[in-house]
Amino acid sequence: MPNLNVRAFGLDFANCFMNASGARCMTEDELHALGESKAGAIVIKSATIEPRTGNPEPRYFENEWGSINSMGLPNPGYKAYCAMISRLKKHRKPVIASIAGFKIEEFVEMTKAFDAAGADAMEINLSCPNVAGKSQACYDLDYSEEVLKRVRASTQKPLTVKLSPYLDIAPRVAMAQALKRARIDGVVLINSIGNALIVDPVAERAVIKPKDGHGGLGGAYIKPVALANVATFYQTLGEEIPIVGVGGIATGTDAFEHILCGARLVQVGSQLQKEGPIVFARVQNELLEQMKQKGYEKLEDVRGKLGMPE
Ligand code: DHB
Repeated sequence: MPNLNVRAFGLDFANCFMNASGARCMTEDELHALGESKAGAIVIKSATIEPRTGNPEPRYFENEWGSINSMGLPNPGYKAYCAMISRLKKHRKPVIASIAGFKIEEFVEMTKAFDAAGADAMEINLSCPNVAGKSQACYDLDYSEEVLKRVRASTQKPLTVKLSPYLDIAPRVAMAQALKRARIDGVVLINSIGNALIVDPVAERAVIKPKDGHGGLGGAYIKPVALANVATFYQTLGEEIPIVGVGGIATGTDAFEHILCGARLVQVGSQLQKEGPIVFARVQNELLEQMKQKGYEKLEDVRGKLGMPE
């Protein structure tokens, strides 16, 4: 039987799957449920300095193709998450803190605090699309590089960065090069496609309320955009900076596609929200079955091996 073990940024993962930050990971109960599931790691909801209640409801909607959300960063604040980390350790899998600052100093303060609290890695979120009046930080390359250099200087622990999709090749290459300069350990691709709009034609209105109905698109809708971002970053980064693929993973085959494009780890968002933490056992079995049928022993045999039509 093949195995799904992965080593990335100095950490060992029992398998390549984990939750995408945001999906069923806001409360301590939800985080323990991920710990008890077959997920290979626990990723915490993006934390801010102050607790936030988030945007008005309805703020999440799903259909057969995926989801749209404008949660608005509801979370109990980083100090509450720091206090939970020691209790999450009993699950014996990496605990990854996601950090959403509104200024550079906030990213630095939270990075230091999560390091001291025992987080195994920090995911720097430069890609939240849902705060009114704020742009997605990762679309400003200079600002992003400044944040990354400052957080890099504030911890020795593994640091990953979560990015929004880039719809052109050049900004993907430019950002990949900036990640090398900033000595970032991993890159999470992609966050939801920001500021999408889903319309209910019967009710003749948007399906979510915040930001005039605009929110981050996830699920099957976005898989081709995610795969393209993973593939381009892999061309520039190779094995030097591991890629965490996210976007449209609902089956083992979806994960297999991300891995072919170069993903070392993968995250599940919309489908976890829909199905619950039991999703991890299913997608792992599906991926193992696929690898067995194709004669692959380990993920390395698949990773980055995407071919092209003759
Ligand atoms: C939220 C959404 C995101 O895509 C993200 O990266 C962080 C927060 C939110 O709306 O809560």
